[in-house]
Amino acid sequence: MGGRRVIGVESVEDARRRGRRTIEILRGDIVTALAKESAERLGIRLVQGPIERAPAPEAEGHLVLQRALWRRSARWTGIGSDRQGDPLAGESTKGFVGGMKGVRRFAKLALVGAGGVGANIAQIAAMRGMAEEIALIDISPGLAAALALDLEHAGGMGGNAASFVGGESLDLLDGADVVVMSAGRSRRPGMERSELAAVNARVIRQAANAIRTLAPRAVVIVITNPLDEMTLEMLRATGFERERVLGMSGTLDSARLRQALAQAARVDAGDIDAIALGSHGREMIPIISLARIRGRSLDAFLSPAEIESCIHKAINGGGEIVALKKTGSATIAPAHATIEILDHLRGARHGAVPVSVMLAGEYGIEGVAVGVPAHLGSKGLVDIVELPLDDRERERLKAAAAAIRRRCEGIG
Ligand code: 2OP
Repeated sequence: MGGRRVIGVESVEDARRRGRRTIEILRGDIVTALAKESAERLGIRLVQGPIERAPAPEAEGHLVLQRALWRRSARWTGIGSDRQGDPLAGESTKGFVGGMKGVRRFAKLALVGAGGVGANIAQIAAMRGMAEEIALIDISPGLAAALALDLEHAGGMGGNAASFVGGESLDLLDGADVVVMSAGRSRRPGMERSELAAVNARVIRQAANAIRTLAPRAVVIVITNPLDEMTLEMLRATGFERERVLGMSGTLDSARLRQALAQAARVDAGDIDAIALGSHGREMIPIISLARIRGRSLDAFLSPAEIESCIHKAINGGGEIVALKKTGSATIAPAHATIEILDHLRGARHGAVPVSVMLAGEYGIEGVAVGVPAHLGSKGLVDIVELPLDDRERERLKAAAAAIRRRCEGIG
């Protein structure tokens, strides 16, 4: 350890063999001219370190693959214990940063959109003491201000350490370190999410302009549909680097998949390792080749027809809710899925989590936001995990990216 390292062509070759896209350069390292040349040729970035890394998951010595997957063992989530899946349950909300090592509290969490999704996020975030201040913004007169007041009143019953502000103006974004964007039109029965692209792109652009000037350092989580297209639109309109613009879809889609598999196999959702990638829509790809129930492949528990039905439920779960509700879409599960991402950002959860993010060559895809597993840290994306997908899944991921790209090009 210590001393000056020489980064030569061999180090670059080694990074290439391992499928790495970056080499961390620490102070004092010497990088040879040939290494620089070779890195450029191979598309490997030489990044000034230290690079923030998500800590390794604390699961016991399971397979590397399981670590890479979105794993939630019963023990890990606290199911069956009094912690009920909340890593912070039982912790005092005051000063809990010290209580849970490495867990950060956001200075200001801003929610653009205070409908069902925004309201539920605010409520859970407040109860968990995730932020010093929570700002709610909604175009509907009085809605966000009322919600802020309501949440403040709930503080009178204890356990709610945030301060709240609510209103119609995007000025309330000022100084936010995390922005959650859920504003926009939602689907009506029979609609595809992609049909909302043109109308919601305008809402995204308006918010992006305000984010760029008032919260220039924020990490932005996009929930507005069509999710992947709107994530890319947010990225373009803010001009932020890709690390700071993430779409919330895979956490929700994977949860729906795990829940369907758990019900079909009559096990606990914590017994399931499963992830859904691709688009948050028709081109969603539940990764069946890597899915496990109690560590075994799905066919040890389920028939092909049962597996098919679970895939169908994951892909159509959101639409089922729209069909029942008629005037809106799901709110509670999307809020919980967003909280998962926020927990990854603040270091309360470890491991890879699926998010929609603009790819730069990973999985052979470039320049389009698509759902992939990623490690997150305080500044957003830390790195993307390239899972060993089978050929069919890899092709389907590329097809999903192509479909999203086409739709993005169609947005005026
Ligand atoms: C869903 O899948 C709203 O797109 C969201 O429920």
